[in-house]
Amino acid sequence: PPSTEYQAENATISQGAVESNHAGFTGTGFVNFDNVVGSSVEFTVDAAAGERRLTLRFANGTTADRPMDLTVNGTAVQGVSFPGTGAWTTWVETTLTVSLTAGPNTIRLTSTTANGGPNLDRITL
Ligand code: GCU
Ligand code: CA
Ligand code: CA
Repeated sequence: PPSTEYQAENATISQGAVESNHAGFTGTGFVNFDNVVGSSVEFTVDAAAGERRLTLRFANGTTADRPMDLTVNGTAVQGVSFPGTGAWTTWVETTLTVSLTAGPNTIRLTSTTANGGPNLDRITL
C-alpha cells in the first residue's frame, strides 16, 4: 500500500513542544522533546494489517544518542537509536519494521535518558 506521513507536530505530545526554529523540517514544525526521561509522542495511524516499514525523520545536533522506546498498541516493541546527525538542521531517516493490526493503531515513542528524544519531524508508514 502507499505510505502515509504523520507529522509529529500533530501527534499527542507529552513533555515536549512544537517548534520550527531549525530549518529542514516538513509540515509546520517538529517536536522538541523535553530533555528528561519519559518525554513522549503518540501517533494514531490507520494502516493495513501486517508487517509494515516505519520510517522516523529526526535531527540530533549533539554527539550523544537519544534513544527512545517504541510501543505499538501499548506493547513494547524495541528501543530505537537516534544518533547525532551533525546539526539540528540536518534531518535524517531511520527505518524499522512494525507489526500492525487492522484499523487504528497507536505508535508511541518515549525517551529513555535524561537527554530526552531527538527533535522529531514525522513518521511515515
Ligand atoms: C537545543 C535545540 C533544541 C533541542 C535541544 C536539545 O536547545 O535548539 O531544538 O531540542 O537543544 O538538546 O534537546
Ligand atoms: Ca529537546
Ligand atoms: Ca513535521
